Amino acid sequence: MRGKLVVGNWKMHGGLRQNDALFADLRSGWNPPEGRRLAVCVPFPYLWQAQAALSGSAIAWGAQNISERATGAFTGEVSAAMVAEFGCRYVIVGHSERRTLFAETDAVVAAKAAAAMAAGLTPIVCVGETLQEREAGSTEAVVARQLDAVLAELGIRIADAVLAYEPVWAIGTGLTASPAQAQAVHALVRRRLRSVDAADVAVLYGGSVKADNAQALFACPDVDGGLVGGASLKAAEFLAIAHA
Ligand code: PGA
Repeated sequence: MRGKLVVGNWKMHGGLRQNDALFADLRSGWNPPEGRRLAVCVPFPYLWQAQAALSGSAIAWGAQNISERATGAFTGEVSAAMVAEFGCRYVIVGHSERRTLFAETDAVVAAKAAAAMAAGLTPIVCVGETLQEREAGSTEAVVARQLDAVLAELGIRIADAVLAYEPVWAIGTGLTASPAQAQAVHALVRRRLRSVDAADVAVLYGGSVKADNAQALFACPDVDGGLVGGASLKAAEFLAIAHA
């Protein structure tokens, strides 16, 4: 579903006391303008706290990863069904930090997207090129390859997912893709989605989104909002992005 969606990705940040304050500030500060949605994806141990703090509000919550497997002897893993029990709407899959630091392949990411859907969650599937890949001129090929793996697994069910284009070189670096750079890749993603009759999937931009650049990025015709890391940890900044 298109319309503006802003999702916070807390990564491995948080603590019970500071989360309470952040949830309260978000809850009191979020009066969604028409067609705007807001969500936060928190570390697993805080899902119960997000559920307690945000239930009944206009803010959704989710996780940042799940296992591609349903159940079994997989020490340390967390299934999609477990996450769903805490009222999550979303789960991020295929974030570049998972792909690079935890060796998640395109096939694993696709399997995680399918596992999320089987549990009734909306996967936020991340794609994006590294700086080296961009400089080699292979941005389109990399993004298409990552997207096609998910399309092959989900087929038309992709229509119920959310996508996020996150150029790896822009994540946590303070380097943001220009609106033109973001739009060029979003248009490519949109074309591929249209070819499987799923042109209405929300495609978020992520990578150093801040209050002062959100408006220009979100104004691009194929950018449907943002996946926000660092700036989602500060209520005022995150709310300013959400209202941009
Ligand atoms: P950033 O992270 O906003 O801190 O660059 C975005 C992300 O990794 O999702």
